[in-house]
Amino acid sequence: MSARKKAIAVLCSGGDSSGMNSTIRSVVRTAIAEDLDVYGIYKGYTGLINKDAQLMDLSSVGNIIQRGGTILHSSRCPEFHQAEYRAKAAEFLRELNVIGLVVIGGNGSFNGAYQLQKEQGIPVACIPGTIDNDISGTDVSIGFDTALHTAVEAIDKIRDTATSHDRTFLVEVMGRSSGMIAITVAICTGAEAVIFPDRQTDLTEVANVIERGKQRGKKSSIIIVAEGEKEGLGYVYQKDLLDSHKIETKLCILGHIQRGGNPSPVDRFLGAKMGNMAVRGIIEGQKSCVTVKRNGQFMLAPLEDCLEKRNTFDPSLVELLNTLAQ
Ligand code: F6P
Repeated sequence: MSARKKAIAVLCSGGDSSGMNSTIRSVVRTAIAEDLDVYGIYKGYTGLINKDAQLMDLSSVGNIIQRGGTILHSSRCPEFHQAEYRAKAAEFLRELNVIGLVVIGGNGSFNGAYQLQKEQGIPVACIPGTIDNDISGTDVSIGFDTALHTAVEAIDKIRDTATSHDRTFLVEVMGRSSGMIAITVAICTGAEAVIFPDRQTDLTEVANVIERGKQRGKKSSIIIVAEGEKEGLGYVYQKDLLDSHKIETKLCILGHIQRGGNPSPVDRFLGAKMGNMAVRGIIEGQKSCVTVKRNGQFMLAPLEDCLEKRNTFDPSLVELLNTLAQ
């Protein structure tokens, strides 16, 4: 049997995000251009443990750049927190003659990659792919822009019906505790207020803003609720606003629609650029890196830079929102 060619492996891990397919396409086509084999691993780290991989070719990534989701599928893999499963994964990667693993995902996925590299010496190149945009060390992550587009479009529609009926809406958006989606869409949709569960937003203040708006003739109000770490907090705020402040609201939880849909040009471009950089990083001998965009510049950074803390939004944006929402 002839020896296997040197290869790159690529997987998507954690919550999917639009633009992952553009990233996979870039990884596959860059690797092939560099005369490497490239294996797509199915369902994230689960696929590494279960040896679920496919040799990719140029046409296996054709006609996917415009599609949401990920053709490789994704998963959250609790087993990968254990060293014995990481050892199993590394053994499989060695069988495939892999010189480096590209991981497209968020914070949890990056931690898994870091451990794999430290313990097993497998070079890893991570690519930020999460709608939450909470990876520290990079200004942007793939999927955030598309999620913003989806949420803004949905909230504009909610504003129409809210205005027709003189209503106040609570709209809960994803993003865990980063609040990035919440503050950005609040500003972009002209929302009256935003509630951040992790920052103990004062509901009396929120209620006052809504009342003041009504007094001066506003026909509708939108309050954005950042998801925070617990699900379903929108219901809690809806009840509090009614019970304690006599403000009746309709609640709309946007949920997973923010994760799907055709990627925006921004996310397609990020995927194309970062996929290419990740493969080049591995070829150039990087052991543990992440593709980032900082102040408009793309670069490779040490993976450690992105692990310590999570990105969150600039607090002055809340002031901006309040000024514009008077
Ligand atoms: O991390 C991305 C994200 O969409 C978060 O915004 C959200 O809290 C979470 O994933 C939902 O995860 P799941 O799809 O596993 O319910």
